[in-house]
Amino acid sequence: MLVAKNITKKFSGVIALHNVSLELYPGEVNAIVGENGAGKSTLMKVLSGVHTQYDGDIFFYGEKVRFGSAKDAERAGIAIIHQELNLVPQLTIAENIFLGRELVSTWGTLDKTQMRHQTKKLLQRVNLEMSPDTVIAALKVGQQQLVEIAKALYTNAEVIIMDEPTSAITDKEVDNLFTIIDELKAEGKIVVYISHKLKELFLKADRYTVLRDGATIASGKMKDIGQEELIEKMAGRKVVIEKNVSDVIYNDPLLEVKNVYLKNKENAGSHLVNNASFTLHKGEILGLYGLMGAGRTELIETIFGLHPKRSSGSIAVEGEQKKIRTPARAIASGIMLVPEDRKLQGLCLDLGVRPNISITVLKQLEDGGLFLNRKRESDLTTGYIKQLNIKTASQETLSKKLSGGNQQKIVIAKWLAKNPKVLLLDEPTRGIDVGAKSEIYKLIKELAATGVGIVVVSSEIPEILALANRVLVMCEGEIAASMPIAEASEAAMLTHAIHKN
Ligand SMILES: Nc1ncnc2c1ncn2[C@@H]1O[C@H](COP(=O)(O)OP(=O)(O)OP(=O)(O)O)[C@@H](O)[C@H]1O
Ligand SMILES: [Mg+2]
Repeated sequence: MLVAKNITKKFSGVIALHNVSLELYPGEVNAIVGENGAGKSTLMKVLSGVHTQYDGDIFFYGEKVRFGSAKDAERAGIAIIHQELNLVPQLTIAENIFLGRELVSTWGTLDKTQMRHQTKKLLQRVNLEMSPDTVIAALKVGQQQLVEIAKALYTNAEVIIMDEPTSAITDKEVDNLFTIIDELKAEGKIVVYISHKLKELFLKADRYTVLRDGATIASGKMKDIGQEELIEKMAGRKVVIEKNVSDVIYNDPLLEVKNVYLKNKENAGSHLVNNASFTLHKGEILGLYGLMGAGRTELIETIFGLHPKRSSGSIAVEGEQKKIRTPARAIASGIMLVPEDRKLQGLCLDLGVRPNISITVLKQLEDGGLFLNRKRESDLTTGYIKQLNIKTASQETLSKKLSGGNQQKIVIAKWLAKNPKVLLLDEPTRGIDVGAKSEIYKLIKELAATGVGIVVVSSEIPEILALANRVLVMCEGEIAASMPIAEASEAAMLTHAIHKN
């Protein structure tokens, strides 16, 4: 058993955890739930030796422990898969897994063959069909997450902490992870599971602990609590997310995409996007559903001008043909993209909240085209902090210090500031808690009501149902179906996502 007693953790003035106590049981999946910024990741970092300065005690199978570093905790048997992936992009999968614990041959040299071999076995276990020599930078976020999981499995730890392990992987990979979790449970390991996907929690977790504003609110067995009750404990209020039932007909074409192809970089003969055509109307919210690898991200990236060399097809905005060969041209045509990977493409982690939001509109904030008007910049930022309920100590706080969900809100804010005509959102609420999700849905709908056309890529069916007026289902690069939301059931979407017709 792993027990934390009265843990208090402060960051220069901000109290992230206040007297938190927690009991984690072996052979069980222990869920930690709470809104963005509640303190979940911070608590896990205390348990896994990342944060060494804190008040309170940790007992590991009855023995009081205090780890001096993450390595220290790892040696004691506590492994963590971080929410913000921690891999080194320039190194290979094998090099990342063995970083700091390289295998050495009897000759005293690095045993690359053995490390490759072990990596291969681990990759098989997480079902990632990749060579151990693949460089991390070449992997999608979801695949990186699988590498993180493989890395944690390698240490054969007693405690495996998973901080939002499924935020970027889809159905098949999730099933796969669940099988791994079952195995760990059967081996009597302590599994800690953090997720904003309640469905997963009710499927997999045995126990829950709710954190709110850095304090323990409740804990118990999953079988004794219902979904609504759990949400209410997390949010401190009732939250309802309903299906979009608008029967408005949108008929003013805004974005016309015709015969778009995107060649596969690795296999010249095949296409990642295969003859995709669709029309997005003014005020319409179009859901783009599909399984991992279906080509959704690639399609909107192509529209945004990210793959000029490998793509073909035509794109018109408000009836005017556009040659979009760069993101700058896309933005000039009023098309904006909120990317899937906020850490790489969406945020400057070493800058404060304010510059991250105002970066897209600096020109508009200038006085007479010369100086940045600080007051307007600050008002703009305050507006979005309020509107999106961004939890930050100040406008100056560095983005890397915010919780995962709050970082995502900043990425959304910065594109909203730019007043897009067409907004392409790739998994916009990944890692965002239910309460904030309902706020963001409201915001996206309000934006659409002003005439903006929105495409939302999502792997979460409830999200598509809550947001979209119409849904396109992609399968193997093709748009396999288009249906009004009234006809879009979970079963219908899945059928088209899996089988071609
Ligand atoms: N290194 C840091 N410096 C300053 N403040 C921090 C730091 N790390 C976390 N915080 C603050 O501590 C609080 C708790 O953050 P934490 O990341 O633990 O939240 P979380 O529950 O994991 O949220 P999410 O669901 O968004 O991942 C937040 O207010 C956050 O801004
Ligand atoms: Mg977190």
